[in-house]
Amino acid sequence: MNVLFVSAEVDPFAKVGGLADVVGSLPKALRNLGIDARVLMPCYRFINQDHYNIEYLFSFDLERPVGTSVVDLYHTVYDGVPIYFLRGWPFFGEESSVYSEWAFDMPRYIFFSQATLPAVEMLSERLGWFPDVMHVNDWHTGLLPFLIDERRKEDSRWQSVGTMITIHNMAYQGEYAGGWLWELGIPSRDNHDGLVARGLTDNLLAIGLAYADIITTVSPRYAIEIQYPYMGYGLDDLLRTRLDDLHGILNGIDVELWNPETDPGIAVNYNADSFRDKRIFNKRQLQAGVGLKVSDTTPVIGMVSRLVWQKGLDLALPALRRILEESGDAQVVILGSGAPEYDEQVWRLSADFRWRAHAFIGYNEAVGKRIYSGCDLFLMPSHYEPCGVGQMIAMRYGALPLVRETGGLADTVQNYDNDLADHGTGFSFQWQEPEAVVNTLRWAMTTFRNNPDAWQRMQERAMRTDFSWSKSAREYVTLYDQAKARHP
Ligand code: ADP
Ligand code: GLC
Repeated sequence: MNVLFVSAEVDPFAKVGGLADVVGSLPKALRNLGIDARVLMPCYRFINQDHYNIEYLFSFDLERPVGTSVVDLYHTVYDGVPIYFLRGWPFFGEESSVYSEWAFDMPRYIFFSQATLPAVEMLSERLGWFPDVMHVNDWHTGLLPFLIDERRKEDSRWQSVGTMITIHNMAYQGEYAGGWLWELGIPSRDNHDGLVARGLTDNLLAIGLAYADIITTVSPRYAIEIQYPYMGYGLDDLLRTRLDDLHGILNGIDVELWNPETDPGIAVNYNADSFRDKRIFNKRQLQAGVGLKVSDTTPVIGMVSRLVWQKGLDLALPALRRILEESGDAQVVILGSGAPEYDEQVWRLSADFRWRAHAFIGYNEAVGKRIYSGCDLFLMPSHYEPCGVGQMIAMRYGALPLVRETGGLADTVQNYDNDLADHGTGFSFQWQEPEAVVNTLRWAMTTFRNNPDAWQRMQERAMRTDFSWSKSAREYVTLYDQAKARHP
C-alpha cells in the first residue's frame, strides 16, 4: 500500500503547530507497519536544503490560464521517510514564514494542490511509484480530492486511487476561494448538490469533506463535537451527510523525539522511575534561567502555545493574574506567539509580576523543551481542541496538564479525583470562564502542596501513558484499505 501525505506543515521542515507534528511522525509509524508512506510539502524558502540533504529531482511546466509556472521538485529521505518538496515561482520559494495573510495564502495553496497532480504523475514516470491513497490535510489541500476526481476522467492511473482528508482544525476553512478557482481555470463544483445547496462550492475544506472517500479527525471526541453547530463552524450540516465515512482517530506523538530519558535538549534526563529527583534539576534550571526564585516547593505553571482565541488565552490570562495576585507562592512561564493583542497581554503579565512570571514571545523549540521538562503544571484551557499535542508532550515529561474538557484534551487527560485511588493524569474543567480556571488552578496547587504522594503517582501515571502512534497508525491502515476499496 502506497500512501502520499500532502501537507502545508511537516516537522522538522516547517512547523507552526500540531499539524507539523502529526505529518512529521505518522508516516514513520506507518512505514513500521509495512505501508510505503511518503510526504509532499511546499518547498518554503526558509528550509535549509543543505542541512537536510535536499536534492533537485525534476521540473515541469504547469499551464494555467494566467500563464505558465515552472514547478521544481526536490526530495530527501528523513528518518526513513521519503519527503518531496514542491517549489513554483511566485507561490513558493520567497516566503519567510509558513503562512502570511489570507489573500496571499489562498492562491498559494490552490497552486500547491493544482501542481500536486502533475508532480505525482512525473514521480511515477521517474521513480515508478504511484500512490494507492492520497492523504490530504486541512483546508490547504482540501481541493485535491475534487481535482483527483476530475483527473480520473483523463488519466486512468487515478481511477484506482482512494482519498482521505484529515480535519486538524474545523475553524480554518479556506472560504471565499471562488475568484481564484475561476481565475486559475479550475472547473466548478456545480454538479455537487451537497455543496451547491449549502453555498459551499468555494470553501476548500468543504470541498475536501464532500469529495474525499474517507474523512478523519484527530480525536474521537472532536469527531462528535464537529457534528454540532457550536463546533462545526458552518460545516456541521455537510458533515452530517457523511457520518458513515467520518472517523475520529486520536493523534500520537513521536515518542522517540519526545523522550525525557534521551532528550539532549533538557538539563537532566529522567524517566518514570527516576523523575522524582531528576525533574527537580530541570525545574531549578528553568527557574534560574528566567530569573525566577529557585524553589522546589513553588508550583511552576507553564504554557507553550499559539497565542490565539482557540487556546483559551481570554480564560488563562485573567486567571493567572488572579492566582499571582492572591498567592505569593506560584510562578508562571509562558512561551508563545500569535495574535498581537495576546502577545501584548502575555508580555504585560510578565512585566506586572516581574519576579514570578516570565514570557517568551516567539517560536522557540529549545525553550519549549525547558518548559515541558521544568514546569509542574501545564496550562491548556482551550475553547476547542481537535486533539492537542502540547498536553501529551507535557505528560510524557511529567508535567501535569490542566485542560478544558474538550476534544482531544478530554480524550487524553484523566481528571484527578482525590476520592479515587490510582486515578488521574491531570486536571480538567468545563465552564468557559476565567473563574473555572482560577478554581481548578487553586485545586491543582493545593494538591501539589498538600498531597505530594498523590501528585507523584499522577506524574508517574502520566509518564507511563502510551502516547505512541502504534494503535492509531493501525486504525489509519484499516481506513486506507477502505478508501482504496472504493476504487477497484
Ligand atoms: P496547535 O496545533 O493547535 O497549535 P497542538 O497542541 O496540537 O496545538 O500543537 C502545538 C505544537 O506546537 C506542539 O508541538 C507545541 O510544542 C508547539 N508549539 C506551539 N507554540 C510554540 C512556540 N511558541 N514555540 C515552540 N513550540 C511551540
Ligand atoms: C491542529 C489542532 C490541534 C491538533 C493539531 C494536529 O493544529 O488545533 O488540536 O493537535 O492540529 O492534529
